Amino acid sequence: MNPLSRVTLHPASLKHIKLGHPWVTKDQYTDLFPKREPFLLGVDAKGQSTALLMNDPNHPTIKARVWTLRGDLIEQSRLFPRTLKERLVQSFKKRREIINEKKRDNVCLVFEESDELPGIQILTLGPIHQIFLYSGFWHLKKRELLQALNEAYIEAEIPLPEYLVIQKRNQNQMTEREIWRGPKRLPESMIIQEFGINYELRFKDNYDHGIYTDMAAIREKLADLFENSKVLNLYCYTGAFSLYALKNGASEVVSVDLSKNYLDWLDHNLSLNPSFDGTKHTRVEASALDYLKACKEESFDLVICDPPSASSDGKKKMNALQMYETQMSKLEKIVRPKGRLVLVLNTHSISMNKFEAKIRSLCEKRPLKIVQTLVNCDDYKGVKTLPESRYLKILVLQKD
Ligand SMILES: C[S@@+](CC[C@H](N)C(=O)[O-])C[C@H]1O[C@@H](n2cnc3c(N)ncnc32)[C@H](O)[C@@H]1O
Repeated sequence: MNPLSRVTLHPASLKHIKLGHPWVTKDQYTDLFPKREPFLLGVDAKGQSTALLMNDPNHPTIKARVWTLRGDLIEQSRLFPRTLKERLVQSFKKRREIINEKKRDNVCLVFEESDELPGIQILTLGPIHQIFLYSGFWHLKKRELLQALNEAYIEAEIPLPEYLVIQKRNQNQMTEREIWRGPKRLPESMIIQEFGINYELRFKDNYDHGIYTDMAAIREKLADLFENSKVLNLYCYTGAFSLYALKNGASEVVSVDLSKNYLDWLDHNLSLNPSFDGTKHTRVEASALDYLKACKEESFDLVICDPPSASSDGKKKMNALQMYETQMSKLEKIVRPKGRLVLVLNTHSISMNKFEAKIRSLCEKRPLKIVQTLVNCDDYKGVKTLPESRYLKILVLQKD
């Protein structure tokens, strides 16, 4: 007997899935999907089965994710626990080198669809491993997931963490935290190291724990830019780029953020690294735009600019690209000759080609040229078939 519900897919969904896109998004066809079954068999108009799908009826837009297109799909649903473990092991092993090098305590162990583990991200933060579940499918398969995880840690020879914490969205799309392994409560705060630099993490908020791990690989790739440089870190948050600059030989660092809370946190992070010369660091509590406007005399060898995808300084709302459009002449002025500008764009909705074209056009009549491009990499390496997995875009510009 066929244990799976067959669901007809929109021809456009079918086409995209066959090209490697891993999602079925909401349309009139998905409205007819059954609500309770975890797996669905996606079929075409002729009833030909095409994909084994992970059902997610409560998700507002992604109604199903592709588990596999290969083999006997009914058999594949039976093999799910084994395949799940194999995919976890593969994903863990890919990062074993980064883990074993111990260059940083924060590593992404599983990066969702890029590791063929749709809707799961696992982030290690020292003794705490956080599992983010973005698909309701996993609510129904939690037992299998936890079993597979237990086995995968052992098979991939990655020590089981002290805490294994699941973060998931409930029916109302609110985030809930559940400790699966370890003491009943997470510590309020904890110190981890990234590239030998200590940072305090705080666990009051579900996401805002104090470090952007997806930027760690990017920081490492930019290591050569800091030596003997006077650095401006715009939108500095808790100071990961500022401290990294000090660690890598910056002569001076100015950190700008709108939030006093993050600047205090940055100061605290600085105090956790007593070998750094704190007199080389200046904090400025201001909007980046106000800082640039007021900055008449000062100039820098390196400017890091990592705005949130949309930000407001209380007066104007602006997205990151608009920030670059409106501020390029000021950014150009404060960079010294032969100096560099690092421009970050954190959104999947603008491709790297478009970002590059836009910045190139803004630089046309200026003494600035693009010398390096970076996207999601290392533990956060994305896949071409899913732009959402390649949301980080970084351009390094050099002044003549
Ligand atoms: C994406 S985070 C930067 C992350 C940081 N580059 C890192 O890797 O740790 C954005 C930061 O911009 C700050 N911010 C938002 N709007 C701002 C504005 N208009 N001016 C200055 N800082 C702002 C936020 O407080 C937040 O700390």
